[in-house]
Amino acid sequence: MFEVSSITSAIARRRCGMAITNVTWDGKPLPHPAPRAPRIFADTAEIEEIRPLYEAGIVNGVTTNPTLLKKAGATSWEHAKEILSNILRLVHPNPVSLELTKTTAEAMIAQAQELHALNPDNAVIKVAIGGYRALDPNADPFTGLKVIRKLWEMDIRVNATLVFNTTQAFWAANAGAVYVSPFLGRLADYMYKNDVPERPAGNSLYDVVDHKDTKGDQHVANTEYVARAGQRKDAGVRLIREIAAVFSNYDIHSEILAASIRNAVQLSEVMLAGADILTVPAKVLSTVADHPLSSEGMISFNDDAQVFST
Ligand code: E4P
Repeated sequence: MFEVSSITSAIARRRCGMAITNVTWDGKPLPHPAPRAPRIFADTAEIEEIRPLYEAGIVNGVTTNPTLLKKAGATSWEHAKEILSNILRLVHPNPVSLELTKTTAEAMIAQAQELHALNPDNAVIKVAIGGYRALDPNADPFTGLKVIRKLWEMDIRVNATLVFNTTQAFWAANAGAVYVSPFLGRLADYMYKNDVPERPAGNSLYDVVDHKDTKGDQHVANTEYVARAGQRKDAGVRLIREIAAVFSNYDIHSEILAASIRNAVQLSEVMLAGADILTVPAKVLSTVADHPLSSEGMISFNDDAQVFST
């Protein structure tokens, strides 16, 4: 379990230097009580899931990816763009992340321009930070970073995606990404599946280059100081915490967008860890309000209130 005591004032100071997320309307005498609260985005491409959440002010942004678009029924690139255009229009001027499907730098930049043109006000282009050599062994490992830098030069906002360690997050920010998306749920899933008790816990996985000292699946968890902090199974939340610490140390204002969230507990944990934005599937959001004791309390108050109904 993530420890509450590990939050630092440095993280709070960094937040204070960043844009206000809940603005008080002109002339409104009661100022908004949470001007720098983390933002909540909907992690879905299904407009009918987004609409009620957006209209109720529960979310103020959206993230999508090719899997979510396929789930939303997209059957072609043109159809995917139509779905994305509708989402951009619905939540305008709030940000919508649109993921590139091309995987070579030149094609990625052309596709980023195409997606950005759907609505330059609020389209944010999602660029994978790495993994290009998994698709083509001859690919440039820096493809993602180069594209992020180029898009920054072109004034196109980028969300760096598939981030699994702190250095990737720093690199993305340094290249010009305005959002970085650590996938905490996938990291936690991995650690649950591949937990190897004799290895130290850590929050980042690296392929082992020199195999002679390693066992098992040839992956190791890193950094001793993270390992000493104990629990291996909250690796995803620890990743957010580590990025927040590094971004605070260096006053980096790229926003930490906690992605791949699986449950309501992780929502609390990533806020304790210092995330700036939480992108959450509609199904997980709908579980937050109904804590079992909230439901029990409602039933008893409602029963007792019957006396006032006559
Ligand atoms: C959002 O930006 C990510 O693409 C998404 O949260 C990934 O979630 P998953 O790990 O559940 O696929």
